[in-house]
Amino acid sequence: METLTLAKTPVNPSSQSFGQPLDLSLRIRSIDPALDLEAEIIRLKKERNAVILAHYYQDSDIQDLADYVGDSLALAQAAATTDADVIVFCGVHFMAETAKILNPDKLVLLPDLDAGCSLADRCPIDEYSEWLKQYPGHTVINYINSSAAVKAVSDIIVTSSNAAAIVKQLPVETPIVFGPDRHLGKWVEQQTGREMVLWPGFCIVHEQFSARKLAKMRTEYPNAQLIAHPECEEAVLSQANFVGSTLALLNYVTVQTAQKQFIVATEVGILHQMQKARPDAEFLCSPPNSGCDCASCPYMRLNTLEKLYLCMRDSQPEITMPEDIRLRALRPVQRMLDMSKGLSAVQQKGD
Ligand code: 13P
Ligand code: SF4
Repeated sequence: METLTLAKTPVNPSSQSFGQPLDLSLRIRSIDPALDLEAEIIRLKKERNAVILAHYYQDSDIQDLADYVGDSLALAQAAATTDADVIVFCGVHFMAETAKILNPDKLVLLPDLDAGCSLADRCPIDEYSEWLKQYPGHTVINYINSSAAVKAVSDIIVTSSNAAAIVKQLPVETPIVFGPDRHLGKWVEQQTGREMVLWPGFCIVHEQFSARKLAKMRTEYPNAQLIAHPECEEAVLSQANFVGSTLALLNYVTVQTAQKQFIVATEVGILHQMQKARPDAEFLCSPPNSGCDCASCPYMRLNTLEKLYLCMRDSQPEITMPEDIRLRALRPVQRMLDMSKGLSAVQQKGD
């Protein structure tokens, strides 16, 4: 079997461009500094019959304006059922693309079109299709963190909250190819006892947590529980008290009321909802290899309140894709939604 390795390229959130309008920075500078952006966004939302969906990794000001805040699965479920005319997706490109796959007739907007994802970027469709040729007869399972073109060559899409549950639903004799996250794939293998062929992708944010520094930190905070996202390396996950998607991590800290200290090994944006849910608890960032204090996704950070306002005002940038790709991508996305009924709940404002 050929072993494929992916280069560790430097963090460059704009490495995959989706056709960002060139005048974005000019338009940002043209916003009247006295404008109440929050009030304008709420006004535009009503005027356009729009819904704002935000991932937990977005900045807190964006999360606070959203109609729904959730993990990838919950947001895909919300996108599948909304009756709004416009979906404003405050997250990254593959999330907005999934909303468009499910809603061809709605306008789907992403505040910054360059908000990609290292997992999706490092799984280009031409290389991936070539690699797949080695595994005929395999069921192709792909993480939702992938492009519409990669989804279109998949049998089932999964997220971090339903991957293990979906793999368990497949007959044991089914050979499986899993992409593009090798760490999530490995974790699913451990949860299900199934061996899968893994595409060697990784998330630049979750792979940077230092297992060595974490072990040291745990001796300094012996009462803290470690909670981790399954995109982390095995050396981090093996130290964790709980592993789960962003929503699962939030649910965990919400119900563990006797526990007052948590070390969090995922993107820093989730701390906003955790602190709201547990004002009595302390949340510490798992130490990354680099000098910074907390893990921040450079792609998620591209969305700002200014860009959210502009995209709603100007109805762009819009997510589009060829209809044949959308139709082929819809089948595995729909299969995921069908196979994960009852597995997740979206966090809606006021819940
Ligand atoms: P969730 O499935 O928890 O939303 O994770 C998405 C993601 O991009 C994690 O890095
Ligand atoms: Fe992609 Fe990682 Fe950012 Fe999630 S945290 S959007 S997987 S780069």
